[in-house]
Amino acid sequence: MNPVLEVQDLSQDFGGLRALNELSLTVNSGEIVALIGPNGAGKTTFFNCVTGIYTPTEGKMFLYDREGSPKLLNGKKPHVITAMGMARTFQNIRLFSDMTVLENVMIGRHCRTRAGILGAVMRDGRTRREEQESIDASYALLELVRLQDMWNETARNLPYGA
Ligand SMILES: Nc1ncnc2c1ncn2[C@@H]1O[C@H](COP(=O)(O)OP(=O)(O)O)[C@@H](O)[C@H]1O
Ligand SMILES: [Mg+2]
Repeated sequence: MNPVLEVQDLSQDFGGLRALNELSLTVNSGEIVALIGPNGAGKTTFFNCVTGIYTPTEGKMFLYDREGSPKLLNGKKPHVITAMGMARTFQNIRLFSDMTVLENVMIGRHCRTRAGILGAVMRDGRTRREEQESIDASYALLELVRLQDMWNETARNLPYGA
């Protein structure tokens, strides 16, 4: 079992309120792990800590890279943690309602692309190749969740299921 995420003795205080109390857990490669608990249990606080939104009061958090070496998450900014490979979604999802389903997924993997403003304007070969790669990878993700038939649907037309 290769660890992917390792959290050691994580605590988060808000003034006198301890939202997380010495939480330790390891998530291994290939595992799907759920964090469950009643309202106010600290689930969102945990996600805010490991994604760099909050600075935990105590504890260490590591994300393992592809070579299997642990990288400390403490002190890193959210966009840096995302680039390291840990993404999150929010309880209130925010879609770009006038864009298509595929385009919304493509934006979600923007941190995996390199083209800048110049490339977008000039549309050189490398930028166009990268864009095609992004389209293919996003379509594959839609297939994974069986939404590929909706790829060209405008996001506002999707039922949220809630
Ligand atoms: N930014 C914050 N400031 C103060 N208290 C907070 C903050 N975020 C969460 N809390 C408190 O921490 C506790 C855990 O909240 P939360 O992590 O949102 O729980 P859950 O997501 O499991 O419902 C709650 O008592 C909540 O009121
Ligand atoms: Mg919550």
